[in-house]
Amino acid sequence: MQLIQTKKELATFLAHERAQGKSVGLVPTMGALHQGHASLVKRSVTENDTTIVSVFLNPTQFNDPTDLERYPRTLEADCHLLEACGAQAVFAPSVKEMYPEPDSRRFSYPPTDSVMEGAFRPGHFNGVCQIVSKLFQMVEPDRAYFGEKDFQQIAVIRRMVDDLGFNLQIVPCPVIREENGLAMSSRNTLLADDEKSIAPNIYRTMKTSVAMMGEKSVKEVHDFVVNEINGVDGLKVQYYNIVDGRTLADVSDWAESDDIVGCITVFCGKQPIRLIDHIRYK
Ligand code: PAF
Repeated sequence: MQLIQTKKELATFLAHERAQGKSVGLVPTMGALHQGHASLVKRSVTENDTTIVSVFLNPTQFNDPTDLERYPRTLEADCHLLEACGAQAVFAPSVKEMYPEPDSRRFSYPPTDSVMEGAFRPGHFNGVCQIVSKLFQMVEPDRAYFGEKDFQQIAVIRRMVDDLGFNLQIVPCPVIREENGLAMSSRNTLLADDEKSIAPNIYRTMKTSVAMMGEKSVKEVHDFVVNEINGVDGLKVQYYNIVDGRTLADVSDWAESDDIVGCITVFCGKQPIRLIDHIRYK
């Protein structure tokens, strides 16, 4: 597996692969890799001749400097995991390499980027679009792999791909969970032991709420999830939106759409750590 740190080396590597007619899969990440990332990489390895994984902690998508500061950085361990998954190359550039000048481009895809994470983390999706569009331009992958854990991010990236006319396939991959149901996330390593034991209540509660769909209204199911989770000492719901899975617009009736998803963000513990998850109602 090749470790690439500059755009020039990346271009040389890709030219070599393309000259042999190889298809290219890209897995964009911010590092601190876990089994969720491994599942994306393994899928790309089965579907493409070459898989390149970017490991870049993108500063422009962090609206909270403390969040960026404490984000885990584990490049060496990440490389071991990627090698074991069969990736051909890791692209781990510096901030200067990716942003030689401040990026003044502005992306706006309402409502997908203005609700939920977009509302609570202003500028977050603009930063995601800045870096993902740069990666798409540099790598020109045939397929790009994203975890459905960041459900809203995929909806925003799809809009950007349509808007800018990128000729590639977005491949969404299912959430990978711990045995106790907690969605795997790089941020989980920041949880203390007592926080790890309460965090699984998030998914457990959402799962219970799916069975209530037949007899309870959208509002009742929403309130059940929020009240149950807020009832756990150490958990505080920031938002729970039950939305159309394509537009991310709120739904108020189960008959409104054939694609309904509940998206949640919960603060866990004293620091606190922000955990996001979602569940499909239909
Ligand atoms: O999902 C992530 O890890 C990041 O938002 C991404 C897509 C790698 C862009 O920095």
